[in-house]
Amino acid sequence: MAAPTPPRILLILALLLAASFPSNTRAAAAAPLSTSPFDAALAALQSRVGYAFRAPSLLRRAMTHASYSRENGRALAVLGLAAAESAAALRALAADLDAAPSAVSRAVSEAASSAACARAGARLGIPHVVRVAGRTSASEPTVVCGALRALVGAIAVDANSTDAAGEVFWRLHALTAAASAATAAV
Ligand SMILES: *[C@@H]1O[C@H](CO)[C@@H](O)[C@H](O)[C@H]1NC(C)=O
Repeated sequence: MAAPTPPRILLILALLLAASFPSNTRAAAAAPLSTSPFDAALAALQSRVGYAFRAPSLLRRAMTHASYSRENGRALAVLGLAAAESAAALRALAADLDAAPSAVSRAVSEAASSAACARAGARLGIPHVVRVAGRTSASEPTVVCGALRALVGAIAVDANSTDAAGEVFWRLHALTAAASAATAAV
């Protein structure tokens, strides 16, 4: 009889492998075995944001500061700001079609301001997610705001819709404003 050694070894290996991962199948389906801390942070961020990316590479890019990589969220942030401004202008006019131009303008610049955006980003935990390098601090308001705008822009690209991005922006903005108001009232 010819030695059937190689196939048998493969079979035994397969059985051993199957036996050593008895209950990991569900975990493996939820997150690839190669998951890095950054990937885990991105997954948690998606659930906090309430948006699941079709292309998670867009979220990686959004959560990467220019100090860290040439592939970063700066261009996405341009789109994110535009989507945020358009969402704010639409809300203002939907609430009052007779609003003065200056009032609409003010509503837009308040909602899409760097300060409001840094607060929303901090509340989302972006300082614990965004990748920075060198002397850049991940909790610097400009970094946090840039990353939040990049996130909104990334959603616009992912969903091929500035409306979808504007909705997410507005929800995050409203939650942050409500939280600040609650804190101020205490
Ligand atoms: C994105 O949306 C535009 C406008 O609705 C549409 O023309 C285009 O085909 C869409 N692109 C993709 C990749 O779905």
